[in-house]
Formats: sequence, C-alpha cells, structure tokens
Amino acid sequence: MTTIADLYKNRFGLDREIGQGMKAEGTVAEILNRRSLRRYTDEPVPDDLLDVLLACAQSAPAKSDLQQYSIVVVTDPKARDVIGGWEGAAPVFLMFCADSRRQRRLAEFRGHDFENDNVDTFMNSCIDAALAMQSFIIAAESVGLGCCPISQVRNKIDEWCDVLGLPEGVFPISGLCVGWPSTNGFISMRLPPSVVVHRDKYDDSKLQEDVDGYDARRHAIYQIPPEKQRLTERYGVLDFCGWSENTTRQLSEAERPGFKKFLNGHGFTLK
Ligand SMILES: Cc1cc2nc3c(=O)[nH]c(=O)nc-3n(C[C@H](O)[C@H](O)[C@H](O)COP(=O)(O)O)c2cc1C
Repeated sequence: MTTIADLYKNRFGLDREIGQGMKAEGTVAEILNRRSLRRYTDEPVPDDLLDVLLACAQSAPAKSDLQQYSIVVVTDPKARDVIGGWEGAAPVFLMFCADSRRQRRLAEFRGHDFENDNVDTFMNSCIDAALAMQSFIIAAESVGLGCCPISQVRNKIDEWCDVLGLPEGVFPISGLCVGWPSTNGFISMRLPPSVVVHRDKYDDSKLQEDVDGYDARRHAIYQIPPEKQRLTERYGVLDFCGWSENTTRQLSEAERPGFKKFLNGHGFTLK
C-alpha cells in the first residue's frame, strides 16, 4: 500500500514517521504528489469543464471578500503569439490578473471616495489572484489536467496589457498553461520543513546546514545540467550546482527592474 509517508519522502527526500498509517489517496495525496506539467496532448479541454474549473478558481478565499482579481481566457492567436513557444501552444492559456479597477469603478457608482490606491491594496489584489490560480490548479489537477504557471508573461507586460486590453488598475500576475499531460513530469523536491515551518518563534539558526543537506539530496536525484545553470558566463559551469547556488545566482541580478515604473504608469501610485 502506498502511504502518505511514501509521498512525503518523495516530496522532501526525508524519511520521517509522518503519515505512515494514511493511504495515499484523496486531496492530501494529490497535493503532495503534484507537479507542474509543461507538455500536453492536442486533446481539447471541454468548455464545460473549463467553466467548472474557473468556478473553482473563484471559490478561493479573497481578502475582505473584495475579490480583487480577474481571469482572462486567452484564445486569440495574436495574443498566444505574444507568449510564443510551448506556452503559447497550450490547449488553454489563462491570464490571472490583479484587479483594483473594479472597486474603483464601484466606488464611483456608489458615490464613495476610493482611498486605497496603496501598497496594501496592491498586495491584496496579488494575493487574491494567486489564490484563485492555485484553486484552479488544484481542481484541474484533480481531474487529470496538467498546469504550469507562467510569470514570464511579466517580461512583456506592456505588450500583454495592450493585446488583452488590460486597463489601468489591472495587470497580469501570472499566466497559466493547462492541458491533458503527455508526460509524467517529476516531483520537485522541497526545502525541508525545518527551514520553512517555524514553531512559535522564527528560527533560521540552522539555515546553512539544512540547505546544504537539501542541496545534496536534490543533487542525488537530479543534477542541474549546464544549460539550466544560471549565469554561467559570470559564475561558470559546476559539476555540483546545488539549488542554493543556482537560486542565488539567479537573484544576483535584478529581475524585471522596470516593474515599479510599469505599475506607476498603470494606475498604481503604491502610496
Ligand atoms: C508564480 C509562478 C510563476 C511561475 N512561472 C513559471 C514560468 O514562467 N515558466 C515555467 O516554466 N515555470 C514557471 N513556474 C513553475 C515553477 O517553476 C515550479 O512551480 C517550480 O519549479 C516547482 O516545481 P513544481 O511546481 O513542479 O513543484 C511558476 C510558478 C509560479 C508559482
């Protein structure tokens, strides 16, 4: 019998006495076993199923019930070309957007001031959109679909706003590719809970040794190949390029430094 303990081991590469008596079935097992999938068959996703999954997305919790997000179902080939590659060819491509325009318009309808063009509202709208995307993903994966979020869309954020007609106050936080998977993908090992979960007080005193162990466990099952090692022209190719080496390489250069300027020009003063 496959147990939750087996799935836990796959997820973390750790042998722990957790979930040994629990059969690997139901939502918990599906979540522990999930992975992003980037290759799909040509089989279409029925419209009715897509509508059900979008209803699941909208069932996510939302800050103060404000529901500050929008989802664009992108079918227009011109828009698909903006993303291009395998992402543009996905059977379904959704754009999850933070949306603070709706409440601003409603304030006008109701004759109230809108005094929340601030960082807090910006963040709440991003969280709402992200939770909706995750609800969609969990629901889609439960019926056998594969999904992959695509933050790469923010590399061409102006173009996306143009092609999808996203007005001020609405911007993409992530695309989402969806389709019937043509590969099994793989489980991406997570940081040990000792690094991520804190009890009562934040404690990262063992960060380095815990992450060294994680790097080694990941490397034992998957060696990051030269073409996936980041910024090799600056840091070189390594035989042992661990997760922490690769992620810190990535963050040694600013990602999307123009994003704040984009937001400021797109209806967010971020007071
Ligand atoms: C907000 C967000 C944006 C992402 N953007 C991309 C992307 O642009 N391209 C891509 O291939 N994967 C993208 N991913 C998928 C991550 O790479 C993936 O979740 C991570 O490697 C862990 O793998 P797993 O989801 O299979 O567990 C994104 C994930 C999230 C949550």
